[in-house]
Formats: sequence, C-alpha cells, structure tokens
Amino acid sequence: MSQQKFYITTPIYYVNARPHIGHTYTTVVCDALARRHRMLGDDTLFLTGTDEHGQKIERSAAANGKSPQQFTDEVSAEFRGLWDRLGISYDQFIRTTSPEHKRGVQEMFLLLQEKGYIYKGSYTGQYCVFDELYADDNTPGTPCPVCGRPTETVQEENYFFKLSSMAEPLLKYYEEHPELIYPETRRNEVIAFVKSGLRDLSISRTTFKWGIPVPNDPAHVIYVWLDALCNYATAVGFGSDDAKDKARYDHYWPASVHMIGKEIVRFHCVYWPAFLLAAGLPLPEKIVAHGWLLFEESKMSKSRGNIVRSETILDVLGADALRYFLFREIPFGQDGSFSFDALVQRYNSDLANGLGNLASRTLSMIHRYFEGAVPEAAAKFAGAGEDTACFDPKTAEAAIAGFSQKFDEFNFNGALVDLWSFMATVDDYITKNTPWKLASSAEPEAQEKLRTVLYNCAEALRIITVLAHPVIPDSTKKIYTQLGLGDMAKADLNSLAWGQFQTGTRLGTVEAVFPRADKSAIERMQQMEEERKIAAAPAAEPSAPNTAPVVEGAAPADGHMPLAPQITIDDFVKIDLRVATVLTAEKVEKADKLIRLTVDLGFEQRQIVAGIAKAYAPETLVGRKVVIVANLAPRKLRGIESNGMIVAASFGEHGTPALASFLEEVPNGSRLK
Ligand code: ME8
Ligand code: MG
Repeated sequence: MSQQKFYITTPIYYVNARPHIGHTYTTVVCDALARRHRMLGDDTLFLTGTDEHGQKIERSAAANGKSPQQFTDEVSAEFRGLWDRLGISYDQFIRTTSPEHKRGVQEMFLLLQEKGYIYKGSYTGQYCVFDELYADDNTPGTPCPVCGRPTETVQEENYFFKLSSMAEPLLKYYEEHPELIYPETRRNEVIAFVKSGLRDLSISRTTFKWGIPVPNDPAHVIYVWLDALCNYATAVGFGSDDAKDKARYDHYWPASVHMIGKEIVRFHCVYWPAFLLAAGLPLPEKIVAHGWLLFEESKMSKSRGNIVRSETILDVLGADALRYFLFREIPFGQDGSFSFDALVQRYNSDLANGLGNLASRTLSMIHRYFEGAVPEAAAKFAGAGEDTACFDPKTAEAAIAGFSQKFDEFNFNGALVDLWSFMATVDDYITKNTPWKLASSAEPEAQEKLRTVLYNCAEALRIITVLAHPVIPDSTKKIYTQLGLGDMAKADLNSLAWGQFQTGTRLGTVEAVFPRADKSAIERMQQMEEERKIAAAPAAEPSAPNTAPVVEGAAPADGHMPLAPQITIDDFVKIDLRVATVLTAEKVEKADKLIRLTVDLGFEQRQIVAGIAKAYAPETLVGRKVVIVANLAPRKLRGIESNGMIVAASFGEHGTPALASFLEEVPNGSRLK
C-alpha cells in the first residue's frame, strides 16, 4: 500500500482557563486516529496547540493580575503538560503568540486584501467576548446565539471581510464536496445557515491590544478567529519564505481532518472555508464535529464550573480508563454524559473483567502448561470445524475488517462494541474447552486440543491488542510485551491477519494490567474534585457584564472580576443565607486547606467542612459569627459530610478567603436578604 499523508488537528484551546476532560475528549480522539494512521504506515502529522489572543484572554490575564504574555505562557504550558502526562502523541504544538504564526496570519490578511476581499468600514453591532463572536442580531443586549450571555455593543471603524460574496461559492463547494462536513446533521445546519444569507464580517478591532497587528495599520488587531483558524496552515509553514517551510506547507496542506466540538462549527465550516476560497487556497478535506461531554446534565464548561479534570482520573485509574470510557460510552457526534460511577463501571466490566481477564487467563495458562512458550496448534483442529477446539479464522477476520471500517468512519463506540463481542466469543471458546481439564488429562488428543486452544487464545489476544492499541495505548503495549511480541510500534495494521503468531514465542513476565477498582475509587475521585474546587482561585472566566448594553471600552479595564450572568429575585431567594456561631473547629488530617467546623444556627447545629485552613488557625474561629449557605445540598469532603458552606470574600492571586461578619450583634439563625 502506498504511503498516504494524514494531517489531523484539534482546535487550539483558549488559555483563559485550565484544561478539563472536554478538551481531553477531542485530543484523545485525534490521538487515536493519529496512532491508527501511523500503524497503517501513513505519513502522519498530529497538530494541537493553544489560542492565546483576543479580548477574552486579555481580560482573564487582568483578572489574574498577570500580563497577557505571562498568563498565556503559564496556561499554555499546562495544556502541554497535561497532554504529555496523558501520553498524547502530538507531533507539533502551536501557540498563536509564536512569531511564525503571527507572520503567517499577517500574510493571510495581505493575501485577502490583495485579492480584493477586505475593505474598511464602520461597524456597530453586538459582540460576545466569551465566544469571540459577532451576533447576527444587532439589537443591544441580544443574547449570544451560542452561549446565551448578553452581548456587548461594539462601535468601531474596522476592516471587513466580504463574507457576503462567499455564500454562492461556499454552497457550490459544499455541493461538490459532500464529504467536507461530518456528520450529516452538521452539514445540513451549515448549508441552511449559509442559504439564509451571510453578512460581511468584521475582522479587526481597535479597542484592545492583545492580538496580531493588521499589516500597515497597527492601531487594529486582527479578529481572534481569523488569527486562530490560520494556525492549521501556519503550523505547516504557510506565510514563510523559507524554501523548507514552503515545501512542508505544500506537502501537508490541506489538512486531512479538523476535529472540533459542535459549538465551533460555524467558524470552521463557514468562515475558514470562505477565507481559504477567497485566498485561492485549498480547503481541508474534512471537518468533523463531535458532541458535548455533559456533567450533571449540562455542558461541561469552565464558566459553569462543572468541570472534571483529567488529572483526577489519571491519578486513580490511569489514562487508558478515561480513554476507553470516552470512546466506548459516547456515541461519536452526540452528546454524552460523564460520571465517576459510569467510568468505574465501564472500567471494571470491560477492562478489568474483559480484556484484563482474558489476558491474564491466557498468559498464565501458557506459563503453567507450556513453560511460557506459545504452543503449536494441532493441524487436525486448524481452521473452522465441528470440534469445540476449532476456532473459525473468519470470526477473527470479520472482527478485524469490522473494527477497521467502523473506526475509520468515526463510529468508535460501534468498533469497540464489536471488538468486545469478539472477545466474548474467545471467552466462550475457553469456557467450552475447559483447558484446565484438558491439562489434567494424559490423552494425546487432550494435549493436542490444549495446544490448539491456547494458541488460538494467544492469537486472538494479539489481534485484539493490536486493534485496540490506538484507543488504549499504555495497557495494550504492556499486554503485547507480555505476549513476548516486543515493540508495539512495529505492529503493522495493513497486514494484520489470523494465524501470524509464531509458535514457540516466549512470553514476558505476566502482570495484571487493569487491577479491579472498588467503590472507594469513586469516592476518591469525587473528593479530589471537590477539594480542587474549594481550593481553586476564583474563576478567571470573563463573562459579559450583566448590565447590558455597554459600549465596548467601558468594559472592565482595571482587571476586576467580571460579574456573573444576571439572575432574577426569584433565583436569589432560593439561596438561604443564615447567621451562625462557630462552636468547634479543627484541621482535617492530611488536607492542608480544610477545617471541620460545627456551627450553631439557633434552631440546629451542624457540621461544615471549609477550605480556609491556609487563612485561619482553627482556634481563632471558635465563638465567631459567620454567614452560611444553609440550604446547600450536603456533600462529602475527604469522607466528611459538609452541610452547607461558609461565605467568604475571596481576593488576591491565590483566592485568599476572608469570612463575612457583622459589626452589630446578630442572633443565630437570622436570614440574609
Ligand atoms: O473554541 N465536550 O477554544 P475552547 C466536548 N479557541 N468537547 C469539549 C467540551 C465539552 N464539554 N469543552 C471543550 C475554542 N471541548 C477556540 C478554538 S480553533 C481554530 C479555535 C473541546 O478552549 C471541543 O473540541 O473553547 C471544543 O470545540 C473545544 O474544546 C473548545 O475549546
Ligand atoms: Mg469554548
């Protein structure tokens, strides 16, 4: 098979907040595709990176008391660090603050200008800083069509891109390239959106500085989405005059797959193709949009604060547990829920009891009965046949073909369901043949059967391991080594077929790959997340001010924490704040931030765990009046139930707490309103 090029990209993630498993999802999907293509011998380039310009980042940096560059350096390094810990096999990591990228974006701007697609005009409209998006509706205060936050009014002289003139060429392109946008539902939405008419797009801003200057007009910075989308081309050399970069660009561009979440379809499937068509450059081959990972019913996002960090899962169950869950549990393209319960259940049923068990049974029997050397299958039981010792090679061949087809169509969960049902066939085969009984018989036929059964199990295990490698790379590598097969990187997917295991291959040392997880794993992960939330500095997320509309520029420039979205009085009365007196306070063992308190509400006493140990010595709290959120659902921290939350101001870089208190004498139980 001739070597093909496979260039795959993740979105470049905003550095306004820390990575969570939503970002991990897209990244591991790309990682698995990249790994599979490398195993197919393709010339693979896997790109990821960080999106570091724009008003949102500028505000987040200010809210954290840092310069934009310092702030983006730190958060970008965190993303990269997480991908390294997760073993993500990216080939290149792009940062939009790099000089190569900046130059490339300016080149793109000049190219579009030269082709007559850019003009200067004045703009009044509504802008959502959170999504860095211009709303279609120009009514002041209109909610953002993506996130629902109130938009801000922007009034500026800007450069415009003639997007309106691109509607026809785009529709023609979609028509001629039905494979461009996947899945079909997204393609239909995009076509409907373009058919409804496109307005010219403002592509520069003058009211803030954190961006790439417009060539020859540095009072303007380039719109962050034009900047960001260009990363896919600048990463491979677009905009450079160096011959080597040019050759690299010619080789890798256009990308094979842009993998994205469904909320950024418009940018990738309308704006990006429009820029490229206007510039006369080739379009990506495929844009694939997946659904959202939900947690507690809503989209996991930095602003909602309902995120789960990958590190927690990594520490307790390992990267492969998380990866397997994401591929197996979420029908690709649809939204899917994450929960620690479901994660542990999947891990135990499919990895510990499934693959782990098959591996340990097979390997330990070969050790026990054949001194660790893969036995030779007896000719008389080879291939399909009536005898239970026969294993039909077609079953394995169908598993290989089926898995490959589904995986390459992005039907990851279907591919895994099938592979695991092949595994169930192998388990059945073991159960029917009872090799442990065969081993205790001295009959030559029993010995022949035993050799055949264990050869076939080892061969099936080898095939499963090779196919599943892109999804669960760490554990399959271990099993492959235990099978005595050496370097997994050399496994060739193109020639994978039944019957290739060399008789006599000596097994490696056998060790459990997926130790069973018990209930405490769930609790541990939940506690780690709770503690992280309590310890975390205040959210650095800029949300739109709640007193819309405001004219841009009147927005917080002093770096204060932007207001949370507006609520009604009905929302507020749901929160029952009460005065209480601290009766006892003690540090929680092995948790340097937590204090366990009992408080007196007048009508009852209760226990609360609070993350204030860095700011208060426990003994200074006894007798003090505090304010508590009295109707907060109970939760456990380090196994200790906490019934409510103490209200404190949070300030400074590390979110230092200061307890709310009164100058007057206030009786316990009084309500705050
Ligand atoms: O949009 N479920 O960056 P971003 C699934 N910088 N995927 C999720 C997710 C969730 N709950 N949360 C995040 C941006 N993602 C721009 C992109 S590209 C030129 C510029 C993943 O930090 C998903 O891939 O908001 C989503 O599209 C991406 O992270 C958004 O990351
Ligand atoms: Mg986002």
